[in-house]
Amino acid sequence: MMLEATKRLLTPSRRSNVPPFIVMDVMAAAALKEAQGSRVIHMEVGQPAAPAPRTAIAAAQGALAKGRIAYTETLGIPSLRARIARHYADTYDLALDPGRVAVTTGSSGGFILAFLALFEPGDRVALANPGYPPYRHILSALGCEPVLIETSAETRWALSAKALIAEHRRKALQGVVIASPANPTGTMMEADTLTQLIAVMEAEGIRVISDEIYHGLDYAFAAETAANVSERALVINSFSKYFCMTGWRVGWMVVPESLVRAVDRLQGNLAISVPTLAQVAAEAAFDGRDEMEAVKHGYEENRRILVEGLPQAGLDKFLPVDGAFYLYADISRFSNDSLDFAKRMLNETGVAATPGIDFDPVNGHNFLRFCYAGSATEMHEAVERIGGWLKR
Ligand SMILES: Cc1ncc(COP(=O)(O)O)c(C=O)c1O
Repeated sequence: MMLEATKRLLTPSRRSNVPPFIVMDVMAAAALKEAQGSRVIHMEVGQPAAPAPRTAIAAAQGALAKGRIAYTETLGIPSLRARIARHYADTYDLALDPGRVAVTTGSSGGFILAFLALFEPGDRVALANPGYPPYRHILSALGCEPVLIETSAETRWALSAKALIAEHRRKALQGVVIASPANPTGTMMEADTLTQLIAVMEAEGIRVISDEIYHGLDYAFAAETAANVSERALVINSFSKYFCMTGWRVGWMVVPESLVRAVDRLQGNLAISVPTLAQVAAEAAFDGRDEMEAVKHGYEENRRILVEGLPQAGLDKFLPVDGAFYLYADISRFSNDSLDFAKRMLNETGVAATPGIDFDPVNGHNFLRFCYAGSATEMHEAVERIGGWLKR
């Protein structure tokens, strides 16, 4: 009896039993290799190599110099919310009420708030497979059911209304998460496809969450925001990628009017407010766009180097990547164990990439994700090292 009670005290909850991010294992292996004196080209982690815009850093330094860093309003500093709303006018020609903007702790904090505000325990939420793993892990931890919808290279890895409706007819869905540009594939949805998909989902009462964290990093065509398509869609975004502010942990949501108060109540209780210093920096980041555009042009060049170089190196099965900074390559000619392949590639070439199994439990063993947010020199070197290795 005693033993049972002690065991209960020491056992983590079932809901906490979410899988870890496998990319973290690759990062640890890469760090070990570096500690042993080897140079590693990091193409495994999805984060920019560049720092935050100088304007953001200066604003944070200014705030620090003033001394007191206090809580802010729960939904964010009003001038930041207004600046984000202005960004929608400038970028998407959308007049957005700043009252619908909620500042969050990265988009990761946004997902927790969005899922809590939108769904009941047991609700079924559709996700593209492959996709960003925390979507399904956060949903599971919150007691919702992630429903993976298979996508393929033939359909540019995009969720289709047809596949979603087929699943919905089998068993009702309450929500869907869409992402364009997507991680890990880097593919995007055209505005027409996005509009049509949202219309079909909403007609069925399926709530749409649009992860727009890679907006701004679009090379093939301009990404459309779901906020321009429907006032009922919930948009999630972040300063992590375009603005190179991963470690600042600040993002935002565009929330349907009817949900603002719910998000306010949740965030007030869960976090009080988002870190103040990061909010101050985020507002000033909008004044650093020239700097960020230069970083984006660097990614464009990196993309060109990989799209031209990887096929010559032997990896020739991937889509012409539209956005973000990822390339999802089919490695099945060489291996059907992407984890083993990634480990060997790291050990033998010093190039770190992420095994597809992180993003796709079904077919990910045949894929590797390369992040091209580093320097052009690194991209050339990676292509050369991989080419030499695969041709041995
Ligand atoms: C598709 C996608 N959404 C959300 C995130 C979370 O980013 P953050 O919490 O830094 O905003 C990431 C991070 O890699 C991502 O790739």
